[in-house]
Amino acid sequence: MTVRSRVVLITGCSSGFGMLAALRLAGAGCCVYATMRDLGKRAAIDGEAARRGCSANIRVRALDVTDTASIKRVVEEIMTVDGRIDVLINNAGFGIGGFFEDLSDEDWRRQFDTNFFGVLNMTRAVAARMRLSSSGRIINISSMAAYSGTPAFSAYVSSKWALEGFSECLYMELKPFNIDVILVEPGSYRTRIFEDNARYAEGFFEPNSPYFALSRRLNDFISARVKKNERDPVDVAKHIENIVFTAHPRFRNIIGVVAKLRAWTVRHVPFEFYAWTVQKALFNGKPRA
Ligand SMILES: NC(=O)c1ccc[n+]([C@@H]2O[C@H](COP(=O)([O-])OP(=O)(O)OC[C@H]3O[C@@H](n4cnc5c(N)ncnc54)[C@H](OP(=O)(O)O)[C@@H]3O)[C@@H](O)[C@H]2O)c1
Repeated sequence: MTVRSRVVLITGCSSGFGMLAALRLAGAGCCVYATMRDLGKRAAIDGEAARRGCSANIRVRALDVTDTASIKRVVEEIMTVDGRIDVLINNAGFGIGGFFEDLSDEDWRRQFDTNFFGVLNMTRAVAARMRLSSSGRIINISSMAAYSGTPAFSAYVSSKWALEGFSECLYMELKPFNIDVILVEPGSYRTRIFEDNARYAEGFFEPNSPYFALSRRLNDFISARVKKNERDPVDVAKHIENIVFTAHPRFRNIIGVVAKLRAWTVRHVPFEFYAWTVQKALFNGKPRA
């Protein structure tokens, strides 16, 4: 095994950070299992891998993080073919927008099934294999949402806070077996998470909801910000690549100026003041009922 020929398993590679990280790691010589739940979306990664000349290092496989049978199938294939998994990147995720009273129990469960229980499913399938070979790296893609609340994103924020708590515990549990657990906390980058992959609470578009006016205002605010968001997701993919290859990665990796500023602010400013600035930015003035 050359230093760069790691066997990497990534979830959520049909677009965004997952696809870009898979391409960079394949380009750097890793054997990448780039997974996605719908192989009908593989054209993007296949085309880009061919263009970059790294197709031989990418194996695209079907895997839904909420479907343990699909996870087992891919993990067993990797163990049979390559005999090890050096790096697991838990990237798959999405966000549901909507005020708490507009969110159904089903909305919450779908959010946690992917963003939190999906990570547990993947980790459960891979950790024992890493432990037996006394090496491995588990990289969990969290978010700046994991250290600061935002109205109308309670389900997403909570799922990432849960992921952080889990990752801290797992770090301590797996360290004795020479397995690194790492968190990546990006700010906001222009990917499909804000576009066709955006999801909304059952009551988000319900005119009778007491939050309807606030939801409209928030939607306009976010749409305007998304249109202006120039931040290139390849920056996050580059950080992920560095984390895979660096000898001693840090546990927490905050990515982007906005995320760093947000992290500093919530640490140094009273919560009430932080909350006031967020509310002022999002809902300046009282919405009409
Ligand atoms: N973009 C940002 O600003 C930002 C900031 C902080 C953190 N993040 C996090 O970064 C990660 C990647 O998001 P992204 O921004 O790259 O968004 P994206 O372009 O929407 O990519 C999300 C990926 O996750 C996949 N996915 C969703 N549910 C899945 C499931 N049950 N099983 C397997 N794959 C599933 C999607 O597949 P489909 O195409 O099938 O839906 C897609 O490939 C997420 O965990 C997100 O929370 C993003």
